[in-house]
Amino acid sequence: MPGGGMNNVHDLARARREGRRLAMVTAYDVLTARILEAADVDAILVGDSVAMVVHGLPSTVHATLEMMALHTAAVRRGAPRSLVVADLPFLAVRRGRQVAVEAAGALMCAGANAVKAEGLAGHAEVLAHLIESGIPVMGHLGLTPQAVHQIGGYQVQGRTEPAAERIRTDARRLEGIGAFAVVLECVPATLAADVTAALTIPTIGIGAGAGTSGQVLVVSDLLGLDADFRPRFARRYHEGRAAALEAVRAFVRDVRGGAFPAAGEVLA
Ligand code: KIV
Repeated sequence: MPGGGMNNVHDLARARREGRRLAMVTAYDVLTARILEAADVDAILVGDSVAMVVHGLPSTVHATLEMMALHTAAVRRGAPRSLVVADLPFLAVRRGRQVAVEAAGALMCAGANAVKAEGLAGHAEVLAHLIESGIPVMGHLGLTPQAVHQIGGYQVQGRTEPAAERIRTDARRLEGIGAFAVVLECVPATLAADVTAALTIPTIGIGAGAGTSGQVLVVSDLLGLDADFRPRFARRYHEGRAAALEAVRAFVRDVRGGAFPAAGEVLA
């Protein structure tokens, strides 16, 4: 493992060359990060989904740089050896090089190894500058949730040929400027497979079928923590909310019934 014992972006490139599929999961806090590192994920994404999943805000537009840096630092403390990618917040790459460098710099100083930026049109030059400055950049194409107000919802992208061609072109361009990987979100599986075949860098899919180099899931979807949110593409590996609810109900029962604490749980 290069990089002084810490996973880095070259491990993802090697995995793609060797045909090993990549698993990335989001995390926002120290305990979850510890679990993901113990589970040997290939990368941890401090996604701007933190705004919705942790803070209950209406969209990822509300993730601020301060929020992203705080959660990135917590994840790094929990996962000292993992490749940690942090999302650049809404508009951070649209206000020129300096704002982008400062935002990416803040996330790197908080503990990220790389940043992720949505879209490409109009800010390719800014992303190229970040990469030239020594900041590894992961692209994000297809459904770009920070643009939800413009898109009008969380629909599948790239269904028409012109839209699909834009995604293919942007993916090639991202590879051309030196992005180390691309997330493909909510695009038809055939398009995601085409893009993957056209690139040498890894593609990480979410709602994009099985033809990408890897998959990413939001940790609360994977663990089944949200009763109300169940996207079709996100497999639930655990009924976390039901398990936690049962545990807390048991505690309440035991306290009310006098069964907790027991003799062995009382300090002398
Ligand atoms: O913020 C996030 O969780 C993401 C993933 C859905 C890829 O960007």
